[in-house]
Amino acid sequence: MFAPEIYMSRRQELKQKLKTGLVLFMGNDAVPRNFPDNCYPFFQDASFLYYWGISSPGLSAVIDIDNDREILFGNDYTVDDIIWMGPQEPLVETAGRTGVKEVRSLRELKPFLENSGLKKQDLHYLPQYRSDTLLKLEKAAGIPHEAVNQGASISLVRAVIEQRSIKSKDEVSQIRSALEITKEMFSLAMEASRPGMYEYQVIGRAEGLALSRDARPAHCFIFTVQGARLHGASHSNRMKEGDIIVMDGGVESPLHYTSDITRSFPVSGRFSQLQRQIYEIVLKANESAIEKAGPGVLFRDIHVHAASVITRGLQEMGLMKGNVQDSVDQGAHALFFPHGLGHPLGLEIHDLESLGEDHVGYDQTIKRSSQFGLSNLRFGKALKKGMVMTIEPGIYFIPELIRSWRSQNLHKEYINYEKLTDFINFGGIRIEDDILVTESGAENLSTDIPKKISDIEMKSS
Ligand code: GLY
Ligand code: MN
Repeated sequence: MFAPEIYMSRRQELKQKLKTGLVLFMGNDAVPRNFPDNCYPFFQDASFLYYWGISSPGLSAVIDIDNDREILFGNDYTVDDIIWMGPQEPLVETAGRTGVKEVRSLRELKPFLENSGLKKQDLHYLPQYRSDTLLKLEKAAGIPHEAVNQGASISLVRAVIEQRSIKSKDEVSQIRSALEITKEMFSLAMEASRPGMYEYQVIGRAEGLALSRDARPAHCFIFTVQGARLHGASHSNRMKEGDIIVMDGGVESPLHYTSDITRSFPVSGRFSQLQRQIYEIVLKANESAIEKAGPGVLFRDIHVHAASVITRGLQEMGLMKGNVQDSVDQGAHALFFPHGLGHPLGLEIHDLESLGEDHVGYDQTIKRSSQFGLSNLRFGKALKKGMVMTIEPGIYFIPELIRSWRSQNLHKEYINYEKLTDFINFGGIRIEDDILVTESGAENLSTDIPKKISDIEMKSS
C-alpha cells in the first residue's frame, strides 16, 4: 500500500467534491471457479483500491461526509479460517494502514445504512459490474439488484473519474515498474518464438517470467499468429515461417497499476516485403499520434490523425484511393482499422471503464460517434496533464469484414477491393505504447520495448 496519508487525502478530496451525503464503496469478494473453496485469483475493485488501498476480499467502506466519519466494514478471520490460511492481520491494523480508525463487522452495514436513511442522507455508490456485488448491495441497502445500477450516483462517478484520471508521480512509478517486467516478457517472447512451436509454449514462458517477478498478467494475454482477430484468446496455433505474432498485454505492478503493450513481430526473424510495408504504416501512425498528444488535444482528433496516416499509407500501397480527408470522414479506413486509438491506463487496464465507458471517454462537449470504427473509440475527450493513455493503432485484414463490405460495395470510391485478394490471409499488425501526458506534450513510457523494424528483427532472429 501507499502511505496512509495518500488514501486519506484522496478521500478528503472526494469529500470536498461531493460536499454532502454518504458514500458507499463495495470491495470485491473471492469468486469460486467450480466449487466454493476453489476461487479465481482475487482482483480488488479498482475504486476501492484507489480510496482504501486494501486488496483483500469481503470489505465495504463508507465515508459519511456530513458527520466526518470513515468506516471500514469487514470481518476478522476466525480461528477456523486461520487453520487453513495461517495468521492474518487484524482488520483494525489493516484499517490503520489506510488511515481509518473505525472498523465494524459486515453485519453492521445494513443497520448503519438504514439508520442513515432515516436521517435522509443521500446515498452515493458506484455502478457495479459483478452479480455478487449487486446482491450484496441489495441486501445492505434494500435496493432491488435489478435497480442498483440505475441508482448509481452520477456525481460520484464524475468525481471519481476526475480524481483517478490524473496520475500522481507515485502512480506513474507503479506503471513504470509494470513496464519493466512487460519489457522482459516481450524480449523473451521475441527471442523464443520459432517456426514449429506452439503459441502456448512461448506465452507460457513469458507469463511464467512475470510470475517469477511476482507480477501477474493484467488481462488475458493476446499472443497469436492470427492478428486479424483483435482479441483472440486462444494460444493453440502452431507458428510457421512467414507468420507475424501479435502480442498484447501487460502486468500489474505491486500496487496493481497496469501496463498494456502490443508488439507485432515475425516468427522467423524477418518481415516479408509486404509485411514490412504495412508495419511501417502502423509505426508511423503510432509515432505521429504520440507526437500529437498533449494537454488540451482531443483524443478523437489524434485517432482521426492516425486514421489519416493509415489511409495515406494504404493509398501508397494501392489498397485505398481518393481524397484522404473525405475517405477518413466517411470511415473507409475502418475496414483496416476498426478499433479506437487507445484508452486510459491505471488500476484497470482499460482504466475507469468499470464506471461506464461513456462517462470516462465522453462528456457534454464531445459525444461518441455512431460511425463504424469511430464508434469503438473508447475515449474522445481532451487530454490533461497527468493522464496515462495507450496509443495502439493497427492494420488488419479481416476476411469476413472484407467480404461483407465488398459484397455491399461499401466505400468503393476509397477501397481497391480487387487488390485485397492478395492480403486475405495477411492477419494483422498492431503497435501499442503507454504514454504520460505532460505539461507540453507526452512522454512515451515504453520506449525501451523495441518497435523499430531493425530492432524487432534483431530480437526475433
Ligand atoms: N490492447 C488491447 C486493448 O486495449 O483492448
Ligand atoms: Mn490496450
